[in-house]
Amino acid sequence: MPEKWIVLRNCGVIDPKRITTYLDRDGFKALKKALAEMPPEQIIEEIKVSGLRGRGGAGFPCGLKWELARKAQGDEKYVICNADEGEVGTFKDRYILERDPFTLIEAMAIAGYAIGAKRGYIYLRAEYHHLLDLLGKAISQAREKGFLDHFEIAIHEGAGSYICGEESALMESIEGKRGEVRYRPPFPPSRGLWGKPTIINNVETLMNIPQVILNGAHWFNQIGTERSKGTKVFSVSGDVKKPGVYELVLGSQLRELVMDLALAEKVKIIQVGGATGRIIPYDMIDTPLSFETILGAGAITVFDESRDIIDIVHRTIEFLAEECCGKCAPCREGTEVMAEILERFSCGEGVERDIGVLEELSNAMMLSSLCGLGQAAPNPVVDSLQYFRSAYESRIRKN
Ligand SMILES: Cc1cc2nc3c(=O)[nH]c(=O)nc-3n(C[C@H](O)[C@H](O)[C@H](O)COP(=O)(O)O)c2cc1C
Repeated sequence: MPEKWIVLRNCGVIDPKRITTYLDRDGFKALKKALAEMPPEQIIEEIKVSGLRGRGGAGFPCGLKWELARKAQGDEKYVICNADEGEVGTFKDRYILERDPFTLIEAMAIAGYAIGAKRGYIYLRAEYHHLLDLLGKAISQAREKGFLDHFEIAIHEGAGSYICGEESALMESIEGKRGEVRYRPPFPPSRGLWGKPTIINNVETLMNIPQVILNGAHWFNQIGTERSKGTKVFSVSGDVKKPGVYELVLGSQLRELVMDLALAEKVKIIQVGGATGRIIPYDMIDTPLSFETILGAGAITVFDESRDIIDIVHRTIEFLAEECCGKCAPCREGTEVMAEILERFSCGEGVERDIGVLEELSNAMMLSSLCGLGQAAPNPVVDSLQYFRSAYESRIRKN
């Protein structure tokens, strides 16, 4: 089996309410080692050599991001943990936070030391309100034990919006403004929160840090594929017998996850990476899961033979149109027009020309939208037209 627990190693093993159970599992050893033996530059080098890439969807190299923030000029710097987890079908960060808040706290404290930040924020999805108390108590326990003398962590509750998971909108939200994306450059490592150098990392990305520091970059570097090191935590849902959270070595096959672990049957369609992710047919189930092929934030939604592709794409685009922040026209107008056209197809009212419009619109949005939402929103449309074109053709009005 390709399962391996690096990120989830403490989940279900420690008591998330009691720091002593974490200390019994080598808890805060990595932080102690970092503070006592490793200059910040060495930590960053270790993360770079490990090959760890961001798990929030974009796959940006973690060590490089930290290095840019370390080198940036600024009297203050910030570490932000992105726990917004708004992607459709993603629930792995919640699973982690509920079971092991301490590793995240330790990782953020290491990050703070490495980039020279004294303050960090956990941007917590609004719907995860039930975790406020657990996280707050975990931070207090770490502080009482003296692990946070150099670094303070605050929790910022999200604004209940999908776009606030996008890093620039997230910072606007922490600053008390409407969650809209920013023009880039500048990027957060040079000008982030309140104009100061900032790193923003996904929960899962950070969860790897203590293990990389304790076991070394080369240990981590041996796991996975050439350009996808380590493991990935997946949230599997939909038409499967065993929905849930699974951690697999990167490069494992989609088949192993969906068929062998989640026990799907009669699979027709798999959506990988949530609303802005890719849609693939069953015959591509042997695709490896990696940054080189297909991954996203790890949402895997399985649809069996009873499901209708047009319906899936229509609902996905409606969601994106609803969640678009409205700042740039390609995304604001494009998602609305796509939703209208798909509505027509759902009712059997599509016309031949609509397919061409969907394709042109997809191109324009990918090229000209301001952020990842608009750039990736056409993915379900493009993929469904590629793999399930006959479903559209059969819904074209016949007169
Ligand atoms: C519309 C949109 C929503 C996003 N939502 C999240 C999210 O909920 N959690 C997350 O970690 N990253 C999310 N991202 C990606 C972040 O912008 C950013 O790339 C990520 O937090 C960086 O962390 P990483 O390098 O550790 O992956 C989103 C991006 C877009 C475009």
